[in-house]
Formats: sequence, structure tokens, C-alpha cells
Amino acid sequence: MADPPPRATTGTTGPEAMPEVMIITGTSKGIGRHLVDHYTARGYQVAGCSRSPIDAPPDGYVHYTLDVADEKAVTDMVWDVYKRFGRLDILINNAGIASMNHCLLTPLSTVRDIFSTNVFGSFLFAREAAKAMVKRRYGRIVNFATVATPLRLEGEAAYAASKAAVESYTRILARELGGFNITVNAVGPTPVQTDLIRSVPKRKIQALIEAQAIRRMGEYRDITNVIDFFIARDSDFVTAQTIYLGGIA
Ligand SMILES: NC(=O)c1ccc[n+]([C@@H]2O[C@H](COP(=O)([O-])OP(=O)(O)OC[C@H]3O[C@@H](n4cnc5c(N)ncnc54)[C@H](OP(=O)(O)O)[C@@H]3O)[C@@H](O)[C@H]2O)c1
Repeated sequence: MADPPPRATTGTTGPEAMPEVMIITGTSKGIGRHLVDHYTARGYQVAGCSRSPIDAPPDGYVHYTLDVADEKAVTDMVWDVYKRFGRLDILINNAGIASMNHCLLTPLSTVRDIFSTNVFGSFLFAREAAKAMVKRRYGRIVNFATVATPLRLEGEAAYAASKAAVESYTRILARELGGFNITVNAVGPTPVQTDLIRSVPKRKIQALIEAQAIRRMGEYRDITNVIDFFIARDSDFVTAQTIYLGGIA
């Protein structure tokens, strides 16, 4: 039988031996749900959120039902987590929405919704989490980008632009927070089979895969592999980076 994964603690004795505390956004399904299972199994204390509840939450997980674009709800959650567990080590800004539409057919309300969740929501979490991390002079923030941005994917103008904004603020926050030993990076997945891409036609997905150096669908493990690297204690000199999967540059 394989050895259990090592417990995620920050030291050997005293309060430093407490489990690392992580916030993951967008946990009710898809990649976020997988992240919950992955990190609770590794001994992290995880707090997650989404607008709907989560089925069968594992031990070591607490859920907050909220919209990431609601400033008060986000602030209340971050500080409740900080008070409850006495620390906040990691933020994984996973919550996101997409919409596939030609620009001529895209209502402004769709653009607003996409930016509210992907940009404003993730920025709010990063800001509040960073305030908590600054107190202990330690933190890891991981944002979600997408290969749709460098591929200039037709039909995803609003989505790709929102993630370009995420990449941009990732680089700037990395500079603003570097002095506090807080790193800020982003992972840019290729298509992964979740509800997010359910309405994207199969031929579009296939064309996207053909543009990759390694031509296959993304899997959850591809994403956790990059996040594991970003949040490692030894990755304290890795910041302001976006790692795209599948060989997109
Ligand atoms: N799947 C892909 O092919 C792919 C590729 C590149 C990048 N990504 C990125 O990966 C991340 C996760 O995507 P996914 O594929 O796992 O999507 P998904 O299956 O649709 O799940 C999205 C999650 O985000 C939550 N969420 C959405 N809007 C929210 C809001 N306003 N407030 C709170 N929670 C919200 C959803 O829960 P509720 O609906 O319950 O709120 C759900 O738990 C996103 O940032 C996405 O852009 C995905």
C-alpha cells in the first residue's frame, strides 16, 4: 500500500506544527471540488466557498455559501477563517465562469458577470487574504488563468480578457507583497472536462487541443501538480509567474 501523503504543517513544535490553513474558492464542483479532496487528504485545513453548498464535505473542510463578488461576504469569510484557525497560509482563487459567444452576440450583462466573478471576486479574495497573511509575514496566493488568453480564442473575448486581467494583477501583487514573503502566481489550464466547458462544441475543444504541444485533455492532477509546486515552502523565490499547461506559450 502507498504511504499516506505527508501532513501539511509549517514546523515541528508549538503553533508552527498546526496544519496549514487554505482558502479555496469555487468548491461546489469541478476543479475546486477536486482541490478540496486533494488538500484535505494531505492534512491541510481547508475553508471553501461557492454559491451552492458542497456534497459530502470531507473532514478538515468548512464551507461558506457566498458569491465571490460580494465584498462584505468575502471580507467576513476571510476574517472568520483567520479567527477560527488563527492563521491563513494559502489562497487558491479557483472560482470562475465562462461564456462562449461571438462578440457581436455578447450582451454587456454577460461581460459584467464574467468580470465580477473572475476579476473582482478573485481580487477581493487576494486583497483580504493578503491582509491576513501580512500579519504573519507568510503567504501563497494562486490565481486561475487560462490558455484561452495566449491562444486569443475566438468566441471567448470576455473570458480571455478577464483572465488577462487576473494575470496582470498577479504580477503586480507579486511585487507589492514580495517583501512580506507572500508569493502570487497563476496556473493556466488547458480544457478539463467540467461544467465550465460543457457547452463548448467538441470540434472547438479538439482544435484547442491540436494547438497544444502535448495533445490531450487536461486532468485534475495536472493542475494540483502546479499548485503543489507554487504553495511549497521551498517555492519562496517563485512569484509573478503564470504556468500554462499542455505546452502553450
Ligand atoms: N475547465 C476548464 O477547461 C478550464 C480551463 C481553463 C481554466 N479554467 C479555470 O478553472 C477554474 C475552475 O473551473 P471549473 O472548470 O472547475 O468550473 P466549474 O466546474 O464550472 O466550477 C466553477 C466553480 O466556481 C463556483 N463559482 C462560480 N461563480 C461563483 C461566484 N460568483 N461565487 C462563488 N463561487 C462561484 C461554482 O459554484 P457555484 O455555481 O455553486 O457558485 C463552482 O464551484 C475557473 O477559474 C476557470 O476559469 C477551467
